[in-house]
Amino acid sequence: MSIQQVQSSGIYHGLPVYPPDHSGLTAIITGANGISGAYMLRVLAKDPNRWKKIYCLSRRPPLVSGGLPENAEHIPLDFLKDPKEIAGVLKEHHVTADHVFFFSYIQPPPKAGSAGIWSDAEELVRVNSLLVSNFLDALKVASITPKRFMLQTGAKNYGVHLGPTKVPQEESDPRVTLEPNFYYPQEDLVRKFCEETGSGWNVCMPGPILGAVPDAAMNAAFPLAVYCAVSKKLGQPLEFPGDAVSWQMNQSMSSSMMNAYMEEWAVLLGPADQKYNTCDSSAFAWESAWPRIAGWYGIESKGPRDGEEYVGNETGYNPRGYGGKGVTRRKFRVADWAKRDEVRRAWAELAEEHGLTQKELVDVDRVFGFTDGTLCRPAPLNFSMDKSRKLGWHGFVDSTESLLEVFRDLAKIKMIPPVPEVKVSFN
Ligand SMILES: NC(=O)c1ccc[n+]([C@@H]2O[C@H](COP(=O)([O-])OP(=O)(O)OC[C@H]3O[C@@H](n4cnc5c(N)ncnc54)[C@H](OP(=O)(O)O)[C@@H]3O)[C@@H](O)[C@H]2O)c1
Repeated sequence: MSIQQVQSSGIYHGLPVYPPDHSGLTAIITGANGISGAYMLRVLAKDPNRWKKIYCLSRRPPLVSGGLPENAEHIPLDFLKDPKEIAGVLKEHHVTADHVFFFSYIQPPPKAGSAGIWSDAEELVRVNSLLVSNFLDALKVASITPKRFMLQTGAKNYGVHLGPTKVPQEESDPRVTLEPNFYYPQEDLVRKFCEETGSGWNVCMPGPILGAVPDAAMNAAFPLAVYCAVSKKLGQPLEFPGDAVSWQMNQSMSSSMMNAYMEEWAVLLGPADQKYNTCDSSAFAWESAWPRIAGWYGIESKGPRDGEEYVGNETGYNPRGYGGKGVTRRKFRVADWAKRDEVRRAWAELAEEHGLTQKELVDVDRVFGFTDGTLCRPAPLNFSMDKSRKLGWHGFVDSTESLLEVFRDLAKIKMIPPVPEVKVSFN
């Protein structure tokens, strides 16, 4: 019988207790100002004894109020540059890394005429493979050989962006090759580097990420918070855009903080060369979350009702291979709602009143389009966490509780007005 100790930190439960010999480590976090990397930095910075030095690599610095933690250093780097140039900068700063956490990501604009945020699959592959290959080549030139390289990919690994997939999604599921998928070449590059250098690898795959940063290619929480704040200002109910199927759809949410806790566990305590689903392990559907969210704002929650009319939308593919393509049914898209004059005016007033950073809603199709996809899914996103549980990972957070924490953090960085928290209750 093996005995494991776990601990809680605020709303996060089942977290590992690390043996004291995990100390004096160095880490590289790439993309440390993004929605994933920023939380990796928060988690590693908590224990300066364990993590002696954290190098944050991205073009812009991480935004941390009061400045970066003492054990962290930002080094501006563009991974689309020549690997020798990148290696030169790493050497100049005497960078070492026991562990690498890779979150760099470029989301090219959709193909002309398409609203799908990942519609330019070829360009996604080209630029995101380059980010990884240039960085790996630079590590070699700079003679940096980490013990473990953690690459974060995501649920698109299963083809969930293409249509309905097999459920639950399990790490051993085969690749979906209906379209080019940038995660696969990224993963192959990391595996090859590890074979050649003797490093170990991990791939962690979250679903929709809940996190608070000023800027991210995809952020499920921020547009939702905008929807709540503006609905309240306009005296309107919080109307769910989708039908009863979307309302009840199971989905695995992935809080940035929880992902980072798991990714730290994966490199320090989990076995090498493993791929993991990465999520909150919380039973989540909008049916339970939506009325709670409306309650924080003190507004009426309006779910699907009989007799309403929906516009159906068919998915491009059917990755599971039976039962036809997937269909989502909506009354409206939040991305279209955000373009309404009354919404734009209400947001401008809120921004003025509360000194918010975004005076007007920008890049609405990209920003709100991601939340539309999270609100109405054609099929469940039901990550199996069996594999990581068997290997010793027990982390858990109630996704709705985490969403409120993220809303509060968004308010702290002046992305949204303060959350009124009129009624707060959880299961
Ligand atoms: N967000 C989600 O909901 C979600 C869900 C599931 C999976 N994922 C996956 O998680 C991975 C990380 O995504 P994310 O959402 O954390 O990304 P993100 O928030 O958009 O952050 C991307 C990071 O990459 C950096 N970057 C961009 N271009 C760069 C360049 N040329 N050189 C160096 N750094 C560059 C950015 O900083 P600078 O611009 O300052 O360089 C930023 O720190 C991706 O594979 C994504 O598909 C995300």
